[in-house]
Amino acid sequence: MLPFIRSDLSQFTAYKPHPSSNTAEPVAMQFDRLDTNESPYDLPPDIKEKLAWNFQQVIESNRYPDGGHETLKEAISEYVNESANFSSADFTAAHISVGSGSDELIRSLLIATCLGGEGSILVANPTFSMYGILAQTLGIPVVSVGRNESNFEIDLKAAQSAIEQTQNPPIRVVFVVHPNSPTANCLTAAELAWLKSLPEEILVVIDEAYFEFSQTTLVGELAQHPNWIVLRTFSKAFRLAAMRVGYCVGNADAIAILEKVRLPYNLPSFSLASALVALQNRQLLLSSIPETLSERSKLIAALSPHPALEITASDTNFIYLRLKPDIAQPVDVTLKNLNQTLRNQGTLVRLLPGGLRITIGTQSENARTLTRLQTAIANLK
Ligand SMILES: Cc1ncc(COP(=O)(O)O)c(C=O)c1O
Repeated sequence: MLPFIRSDLSQFTAYKPHPSSNTAEPVAMQFDRLDTNESPYDLPPDIKEKLAWNFQQVIESNRYPDGGHETLKEAISEYVNESANFSSADFTAAHISVGSGSDELIRSLLIATCLGGEGSILVANPTFSMYGILAQTLGIPVVSVGRNESNFEIDLKAAQSAIEQTQNPPIRVVFVVHPNSPTANCLTAAELAWLKSLPEEILVVIDEAYFEFSQTTLVGELAQHPNWIVLRTFSKAFRLAAMRVGYCVGNADAIAILEKVRLPYNLPSFSLASALVALQNRQLLLSSIPETLSERSKLIAALSPHPALEITASDTNFIYLRLKPDIAQPVDVTLKNLNQTLRNQGTLVRLLPGGLRITIGTQSENARTLTRLQTAIANLK
């Protein structure tokens, strides 16, 4: 370890990105990439043309991008109002901050709340790994609790006792995903009631990365809960993972702090333009969602009857597949083997300690995945 590096970083494992199609490596093109919950659909060619025109005619590559993001924030606030049936007076640009993916906003939230020994964070595993990873890079302690094995509800007793007992530093932020990744379920009524009971000195981050698939949002609660923030992204239903644009919606005072913490030019001009064009064409871009949901139902219906599999309902663009412990032993080895078998045949899925998370792809990708999975699990018995 280099002597000038923080000692806690030596035990730290970096996030391993998957092979991207945005590379010259031919191997990346051979996979059905169902491991990162992206949309399987690229932007339509006429929208790409619009963006190319924008790049040629409007963006001056020698100039810094718009560091205030005002136009994009206004367009986002209009979309947020529309998605929650509010009048445009409810959310304005002052309630929005944009980041280089929601990952950047998660980091800004951590910097604004917990850095310098001021706070720990609470997560309920399994959940999106970046909360813990980003906290660790900042030296922020992560307190983890579990979930109910059947409906994936957070262990609320353990969560409450963690809030009461964690000291030096106390829990300052609770991260939840609605619907959760990888378990694909929305927050339950009991979880919501618990979040509402948390005191105002604890920030509640509700990550709605998959809102467009679930059509369930908590932005309507933000006015009553100044300590809540909703996170969203353009990386999933809006098909813009390559552009890295995320946003959060919240109380204007909290947003002002996030604006202070972020880098001045955190989003490239092309990313800003892409997000704006995506919002302007949202009807078209989001029109693929019904197909994703129907493909999801087909996949769940086809896999559910298998005696070795445990598939739960999904409110998102992915499914979570577990193995029944009485049939597949040992579960972790079998999961690893399944994952490797799928990979060998060209399907990338996400291997997690308790299951496999499979993104819903195009019809042909899903058909291939189903055949490959059925063959692989037939050999389990
Ligand atoms: C729950 C959740 N939040 C945030 C993100 C990251 O989104 P972004 O691409 O905007 O950084 C993901 C990506 O998989 C996610 O699953």
